[in-house]
Amino acid sequence: LPDPEVAALTGDDVADMLPRPGADSDKYRRGVVGIAAGSDRYTGAAVLSVGGAVRAGAGMVRFASSAEPVRLVRARWPEAITTVLDPSLVLKSSLDEVGRVQAWVLGPGLGTGPEAHAVARAVLSTGVPVLVDADGLTLLAKDRTLLRRAAPTVLTPHAGELSRLLGVPRERVEAARLEHVRRAAAELGATVLLKGSTTLVAEEHRPVRVNTTGTPWLATGGTGDVLSGIAGALLAAGMTGYDAASCAAYVHGLAARIAAGGGATGGGQAPIAALDVAQTLPEAL
Ligand code: APR
Ligand code: MG
Repeated sequence: LPDPEVAALTGDDVADMLPRPGADSDKYRRGVVGIAAGSDRYTGAAVLSVGGAVRAGAGMVRFASSAEPVRLVRARWPEAITTVLDPSLVLKSSLDEVGRVQAWVLGPGLGTGPEAHAVARAVLSTGVPVLVDADGLTLLAKDRTLLRRAAPTVLTPHAGELSRLLGVPRERVEAARLEHVRRAAAELGATVLLKGSTTLVAEEHRPVRVNTTGTPWLATGGTGDVLSGIAGALLAAGMTGYDAASCAAYVHGLAARIAAGGGATGGGQAPIAALDVAQTLPEAL
């Protein structure tokens, strides 16, 4: 239905928005994205988020976490520069050793204990845009003071995570996704990307963008983590939260279609694994 408050996202819109390196680009100008994700218990989400950022074309990916996820990220993505965070130092709320980060991704596999909370506080205390996903959203739902910050924040919940953020039952969120994503953007003062079979991107005073490039094959563990890295790379490249989130959703869905064997128009029936979506991103882009 034609609704001025809702905008479908087209490939032409996205192509116009995506950053492309010029002849005089260097890696810092292309964007340094910091990723604070993973824990000794959950390591895979970190590998997937870093993969999304690397393959989305970040100028540089800096990964900060505990020893085990750092070991695995180094093994899988030699492009990333890693820092092992000392939990006692994180409590002092300093990420200074992780230099020149232009946007952060916070949360996939991070855990929700006191150390994770300290990492979240440190990341959200920086003056750069932050994308919060997964466990980072659980931490925000428990402690909304983390959101008191001047720089832009992008939240990427699925319906369950949004229901916890708003304190509304999941069924109600699922029955009225448009209403709840708008409400979250207004109440939390953030760009909110609501995941699902279609993806909605809301920001106050802007039309809600709708993305439909995905495929049901995306319903498999870890694809959301790849999305966080893509959007983080685009934020670090200087896009607004609204544009970074919508372009990330678009190319993530397109990459999944390509990975499923249907080409960009969809219809492919090959099951995909989350890392495949990172691998087909260059073709989607
Ligand atoms: N059609 C199209 N796209 C879909 C569909 C579908 N039917 N189902 C899911 N997707 C897309 C979503 O839009 C999103 O981009 O797949 C991705 C899934 O992301 P998440 O829901 O965040 O799932 P993921 O992170 O991969 O799951 C691993 O992380 O956030 C936690 O609670 C989550 O335990 C889970 C874990
Ligand atoms: Mg997720």
